[in-house]
Amino acid sequence: MGFPARRMRRLRRTPALRRMVAETRLDVADLVAPLFVREGLDHPVPIPSLPGVVQHSRASLLAEARRLVALGIPAVVLFGVPARKDPIGSGASDPSGVVQLALQELRDALGDDLVLIPDLCLDEYTDHGHCGIVGRDGLVDNDATLERYAEVAVAQAAAGADLVAPSGMMDGQVAAIRSALDAAGHPGVGILAYAAKYASSLYGPFRDAVDVRIAGGGDRRGYQQDPANRREALAELRLDVEEGADIVMVKPALTSLDVIAAARAELELPVAAYQVSGEYAMIAAAAERGWLERRSVVLETLGAIRRAGADIVLTYFAAEVAELLQHGSG
Ligand code: PBG
Repeated sequence: MGFPARRMRRLRRTPALRRMVAETRLDVADLVAPLFVREGLDHPVPIPSLPGVVQHSRASLLAEARRLVALGIPAVVLFGVPARKDPIGSGASDPSGVVQLALQELRDALGDDLVLIPDLCLDEYTDHGHCGIVGRDGLVDNDATLERYAEVAVAQAAAGADLVAPSGMMDGQVAAIRSALDAAGHPGVGILAYAAKYASSLYGPFRDAVDVRIAGGGDRRGYQQDPANRREALAELRLDVEEGADIVMVKPALTSLDVIAAARAELELPVAAYQVSGEYAMIAAAAERGWLERRSVVLETLGAIRRAGADIVLTYFAAEVAELLQHGSG
């Protein structure tokens, strides 16, 4: 037995050496915080399946946004929970709907200090809980839904959105939204497209957060992707680029590291990944039981998502990680 050909361990000996040769790092500027705002609240309400995350009132949302700016977080994705839901999700495009009012307030208070990205979908606003308009056959009608998405996009842009983030996985949604924004005089508003979005069981806690139950015990497998497929995800990503997306997103993150890596290798524009509610809940629950060390698992998973190739990461841990990085314990 000879000696090892190459001593890999030399560069792992001290923290300073390891830091010097680290290939990826977490930076607060890469993190986006998802936030929930609920119509009619006068104080924030905790979300049991997302411990530490709340449904905000408009006032507490503004306070949280100011705190995120102070922490150096560049952007938020906003989800609205309306007081009333209906079949077409009217609240999503109502100029006095909860997200539109919140966008205006944040823009007035914060100027351009925070990138404002409303999620663009109907599920939070429809009484049946689907991401689009349900036709007589009980299926989500793709093209009728595109007309609604166009209206929502224009309302969000008028209220002050920097980017809109369509998450409904309808065919042609990016093109429909791009042309609606341009026609309404908002050529400067961009699109962060949920391009490869799987029909995942990891969105469960999110649906609690926005009070969504899909009618008749239904699911989203008729529009979101089958987790078995990778090539199909690349086709979705390419289509969104062709249709005019400014940033493409893959979701969930930890179950899609292969897709994130392929997207980064193939595309030039920024690639985002969403560490979704179930990913957060798994870590939070295990840490609560003392089965995992919260801080190190958070940093390891986010690090892996960055290593796979994500430029931007949406995570409910954003503020916590920003604090960790600030105090140098990252
Ligand atoms: C749809 C939407 C969902 C999420 C983001 N946008 C839920 C779904 O597709 O059912 C999930 C986010 C998460 O789980 O954190 N508006």
